Amino acid sequence: MTKLFITGGAGFIGSAFVRLLLNERPDVELINFDALTYAGNLDNLADLESKRHHFVRGDIVVREDVLANLPQDCDAIINFAAESHVDRSIASAGEFLRTNIIGTQVLLDAARERNVRRFVQVSTDEVMGSLPEDDLSYFTEDSPFAPNSPYAASKAAAEHFVRAAHHTFGVDTVITRCGNNYGPRQFPEKFLPLTISNAMHNDTIPIYGDGLNVRDWIYVDDHCRGILAALEKGKSGSVYNLGARNERKNLEVVHSLLDTLGKPRTLLNFVKDRPGHDRRYAIDPSLAETELDWRPLESWESGLAKTIDWYQQNPTWIERTRSGAYQDYYKNQYGVEVRTT
Ligand code: NAD
Ligand code: TYD
Repeated sequence: MTKLFITGGAGFIGSAFVRLLLNERPDVELINFDALTYAGNLDNLADLESKRHHFVRGDIVVREDVLANLPQDCDAIINFAAESHVDRSIASAGEFLRTNIIGTQVLLDAARERNVRRFVQVSTDEVMGSLPEDDLSYFTEDSPFAPNSPYAASKAAAEHFVRAAHHTFGVDTVITRCGNNYGPRQFPEKFLPLTISNAMHNDTIPIYGDGLNVRDWIYVDDHCRGILAALEKGKSGSVYNLGARNERKNLEVVHSLLDTLGKPRTLLNFVKDRPGHDRRYAIDPSLAETELDWRPLESWESGLAKTIDWYQQNPTWIERTRSGAYQDYYKNQYGVEVRTT
């Protein structure tokens, strides 16, 4: 049996990764270690009944809890656990430093102490900042760090500690950097599920600034397959950019969603811009394609259709996650009322 320690596996991407492992790797047994913050949701794991999946509620910052639950003969730690929302990091950065930076270092120390074979850090293209609008530049693995939001700064700091653990102590590390994920079970404070959820409730949809910021979208299962490929085939000490060559302006995304849902564009509500709002992200995934032999399987159209279908089929999940965790923030920051029932 391959023994894995997955952190943040009750969140959006982590739960998709756990599902992928249980479905496609019959020799894998895993500890799913998650603090169940507002973004962690056991409903995300409800369909996973397997003796190879062991959920433990725990905080990656608490060294004793990590060591108590890390198997002695652990093959790899895959670190998804994080505070993940840029807007929240602008409102208050403390939890981002705690979980994203200190938590990562605690896990690296545990990996070293227990001789864990490999450490995979799930990172983001946002560590590289913002690209110029409407040109042909892309983020590569050699792009300089230029994090602009407190969230991005915390993820960049975490990457530096991963790099240092490899360089100084020889920990076998791999870092993956991905763009904006979409798919089932994403907490509806992020742009795509917020749009779907608000449109389904005929609520207005906040569009920051002019709505022309560009994001590079990838279906969550494609991202997870990339992380799995990095775990299994990545070179120690490497960074891999994972992207689907799918740049879209925010307005284009929201128009597609409203058209598919049969909702009017009058729901759009242009609000003041996010402070420090990155203009464009675009990923060059060539290295992952060649070294990991990885390619996204989902097209934008097929991925969006699956995503919308999932939210339409799971109204209870949406009602629970809309139950108040984020409406105060939206009201204070953008003057937007978000319905909770
Ligand atoms: P998410 O917010 O949906 O889930 C985060 C999970 O981490 C939750 O289950 C939460 O309970 C858990 N967690 C938070 N603090 C913890 C702590 N101290 N100890 C243990 N668990 C804790 O996030 P996501 O969108 O699934 O993102 C997962 C990872 O992928 C993050 O590291 C994020 O930075 C990275 N990432 C996300 C995206 C994206 O588009 N969502 C893109 C690139 C990279
Ligand atoms: P988000 O989902 O927060 O991801 P990130 O900031 O990490 O890329 O936002 C995606 C894009 O959508 C980003 O350009 C900000 C914009 N946005 C809105 O216009 N309105 C919203 O309500 C949200 C949450 C985001």
